[in-house]
Amino acid sequence: MESSSLPDSAPAGVGASDSAFTWLGDLTGADRLPRGVAFTSGAARMEITALAPNVVRVRLAPDGVMRPRRPWAVDRPAEEWPETPLTLDERDEGFALDTGQVRVRVARRPLQVRFEDREGTVFAADEPVRGCGWRTGEPAGDTARAVSPRPVICWKTLPDGEHYYGLGERTGLLDKRGARYTNWTTDVWNHGPSTDAMYHAIPFVLALRPATGLAYGLYCNTTFRSVFDLGDTDPQRYSLEADGGELDYYLIHGPTPAEVVRGYTALTGRMVLPPRWALGYHQSRWSYASDHEVRTVAAGFRRHRIPADVIHLDIDYMDGFRDFTWNAQTFPHPGRLMADLRQQGFRVVPIVDPGIKNEPGAPVYEAGVAHEHFLRDAEGALCHAQVWPGDCVFPDFARAATRAWSGELHRGLLEAGASGIWNDMNEPAMHGGEIPLSAPAGDDTRPATFAEVRNVYALEEARATEQALRQIRPDERPFVLTRAGFAGIQRYSAMWTGDNTSSWEHLEMALPQLSNLGLSGMAFCGTDIGGFFGNATPELFARWIEMGAFFPFARGHSHLDSRRHELWAFGSEVTAIARRYLELRYRLLPYLYTLFEEAAATGAPLWRPLIYAYPTDPAVIALHDEVLLGADLLLAPVYRPGVTVRQVYFPAGAWHDFWTGERFVGPRHALVLAPLETLPLYVREGSIIPSGPTMQYSDERLFEHLTLEVSVGEKTIKGPVVVEESSEVLTLDVYLGEETTAAVGQLYEDDGHTLAYQRGEYRRTRYRCERGAAGSSITATVEGPYTPGPRRLSLRIHGVPVSAARLGERALSIHASAAGEPPHTRIDLPYDSGAWTVALLHEQ
Ligand code: GLC
Repeated sequence: MESSSLPDSAPAGVGASDSAFTWLGDLTGADRLPRGVAFTSGAARMEITALAPNVVRVRLAPDGVMRPRRPWAVDRPAEEWPETPLTLDERDEGFALDTGQVRVRVARRPLQVRFEDREGTVFAADEPVRGCGWRTGEPAGDTARAVSPRPVICWKTLPDGEHYYGLGERTGLLDKRGARYTNWTTDVWNHGPSTDAMYHAIPFVLALRPATGLAYGLYCNTTFRSVFDLGDTDPQRYSLEADGGELDYYLIHGPTPAEVVRGYTALTGRMVLPPRWALGYHQSRWSYASDHEVRTVAAGFRRHRIPADVIHLDIDYMDGFRDFTWNAQTFPHPGRLMADLRQQGFRVVPIVDPGIKNEPGAPVYEAGVAHEHFLRDAEGALCHAQVWPGDCVFPDFARAATRAWSGELHRGLLEAGASGIWNDMNEPAMHGGEIPLSAPAGDDTRPATFAEVRNVYALEEARATEQALRQIRPDERPFVLTRAGFAGIQRYSAMWTGDNTSSWEHLEMALPQLSNLGLSGMAFCGTDIGGFFGNATPELFARWIEMGAFFPFARGHSHLDSRRHELWAFGSEVTAIARRYLELRYRLLPYLYTLFEEAAATGAPLWRPLIYAYPTDPAVIALHDEVLLGADLLLAPVYRPGVTVRQVYFPAGAWHDFWTGERFVGPRHALVLAPLETLPLYVREGSIIPSGPTMQYSDERLFEHLTLEVSVGEKTIKGPVVVEESSEVLTLDVYLGEETTAAVGQLYEDDGHTLAYQRGEYRRTRYRCERGAAGSSITATVEGPYTPGPRRLSLRIHGVPVSAARLGERALSIHASAAGEPPHTRIDLPYDSGAWTVALLHEQ
C-alpha cells in the first residue's frame, strides 16, 4: 500500500511559469492524410483524422515524430472504422475539416483547433493565448517524468455552464469541474473525498452544457501518466496533459451523453455479456479461512432465505498466500468443496494477486525466471517488493508470452471448479517498494518502459485472466473481477472500487462514484457493500444493502479486523431488509439482464446519473444522490443516519412509487418518507418492466431448465412441454397514467452462460402498450430463435383501472391487487406464446 498520491511535482501549467513551455507557433504546412490532414508548425506536427462523423482524433508531436501507439486501450485500428466522408475547405484564416456532424476549424496564427457542431456552436476550443505546448526543460524530482519524454499539454477554453463527468474511478461528488485529475493507477486504501489518483485510471472526460444539451467527450490516448485540469489552475480554461512526448486525444461529439458513451466505448470496447450468475449477489470477506467456514456461510444464506450466487475466496485459501496453491490444512478438498457448493447453487471466485513469491526452488517462480516473465530494472535485476506472501516478483503482463504463461497457471483453479477469478493488488500494489518507471516492459517487438506500462498493468493482467478463462472453458462466458484498470478494462472484467470504509460518507460516495464509472465505459461496477474497513452499524449496513442490491456488481466484502458483515449478522430487522432487497434484485433479473445486454451492445451504463437521460435539466447538473437504473427505475437512496424522510427530485415525466403506487409528476421536488426498510424507488410512467420469480440463486428456476413430468394414465411424458399449469411466471408491470398514451419495454433472453448468443441464439421480446379512449392493447413481438421454457404471464397494469381483458377471442380473468401491494390490475395469461396481443378495456 502506498501513499495516496504520487511524488507531486507540479504538472505543466500548475505552478510552473509559462517560460517553462514552448507554445505551438504558426501553421507552416498542410498535407492530406487518408482520413484527415497533417499540419506542421516548424518541427511540430499535428495530425487530425476522423474515425466516424462524431469521432475525431488529434495528435501533436512537438518534434514531428509520431510515437508508435500500443493497442492496449484502443484496440480497434483506424483502418477498421468505416470510411468517414470528410470535406476540406481552405481559407485565409485557416482550414475547416467537416465530417457532416462535426466541423474542425484549424487556425493558422498560431496553429489552433476548435470544434463546431452543425449549428455552429463552438466547443473544445484551444485557448487563444496558450493552446498547445510542451515543457522545454526537464522537471526535477519526479521520476515519472524523468524517464518519459517531455509532457505535452493542450489548454482549452472553459466556458461558463460547461460541466464535467466521467474521469473513471473518482471520489467526491458528481460534477468534476474545478479540480485536477491525475490518471495513474494507485493503491489508495485510505482514500477520501480529496484523493486524486485511484486504482483505475481512465483518461476520459465527458463535458456537458445543460443550457443547450451539448455533450462531448475527450479521451486522452496515452498510457503514460496524464492529467486533466478542469478549471483548477484557472477557472477560465481546462487542459489535457500527457507525459510521453506526444499529445493524442479523441474528441467524441454526442450531442447526448448517451452518444458520447457509445462513441467512447466504440473506441475502447465493450463488455462481453457476463454469465447470468454474475448478476446475482456475491459474498466475500478477508477471509473465509477454511472449507468449514465457507460451507457455514453458504448454509447461512440458504437458512436465512437470502438469495446469493457467489462466494469469493480471499488470500487465506492459499498456502502462505502463494498464488495457485491451496492451504492443505484448511482447504483439503477444494474440488469437493466447490462441487458441493455448486449443488447448493453457489459459484466460487478465488483471488489471484499479481505478485509471485520470490522463492527460489518454487515451481512458479522458477518457471517465471527461466522464461523471463518477471519485470527487471534497467540494470537487469529482478524487481521485487513486499506483498502478502512476503518478497514478490511481478509478471510483465504487457508481454504476450507472459500473459499466456500466467493464464495457463489458472488451469488448476478452474479445473477444481472455480467459476471466475478475482484479480487484486494490480496497480500494482507494493508495500515499501515500486517498480522503477525506467524498467523495460512489454514485448521485444514493442519495447516500452514501465512509465508507459504501469497504467495498463491491471488491464493486461485482466486480459490474460480473461483469455485463460476463454481458453480453458471455450464456450463459457468469462467472469473476472479487478481492482485496478485502465480505459478498455470493461472488455475483460467487472470492477469494484477497492478498499472503502464502513462510513456514511463512503456510502454516499458510491452514488457518484459508480455514476462516473458508468459514464467512463465501466458499466459492471460496485463498491464493497457494508464497507471494507471498520464496522458497519446495523443502520448503515441496512442502507448499504438497500442501495447495493441495485449495484451492477453487488458484492459484500469486509476487512479481516472488522466484525462479521454477513447479511444476517446485524439482527433480524436488517436480515429481513437484506432479504427483501436481494429478493427484489433477483425478481428484477430479467430487467437487469436486458440492461447488461444493452451495455454489451452499446456501452450504455446500467447505473446512470440523471444527466445521462435529462441532459438539459439544470436541476440535475450536480445531482449526485439519485440514479437511474436503466431508463426506467429511479433510485433515491438514504445515506445518512437517522434519516427517514428525504428530498427526491423527479425529472420530467410521471413517476410511480414502486412500493405504494403514488404518482409524482416532474419536474418537481418532493419530500418522501423513507423508513429504514424503504429505499425510495420509482418507476417511469410509460415503461413496461419484466420480472421473474423470487429465487435463491440465479438459475434456481430458470425458465429453460424447467422439465415437467406429466402423467397420462400409465405413461409418463417428460418435458419440456408447454403446459398451462407451468408454475413459472414472467411478470410484466405496465405503468400507465391519464396523460400517457403508450408504454414500452424489452426483455432479452438467452441461455445465460455460453457464447451461443453471439451466434444469434437469443430472444428479444419487445412489449408495447397503446392506449386508446376506451381501452388499450399490449403487444409482444419477438426476434431471435432462442426459446425459453414454458411459463405463464402475469400482466400488472398500473395507473389506469381495467375492467376486462381478452387474448384473441378468449376472455382473461382480471384480479385486483392484494392489500399492501401498489394498486394495479392483474391479468394472468395461461402461457407465454412469445408473440401475443392482449386487449384491455378500461373502466370508464
Ligand atoms: C486488498 C483488497 C481487499 C482484500 C485484501 C486481502 O486490500 O482490496 O479486497 O480483501 O487486499 O486480499
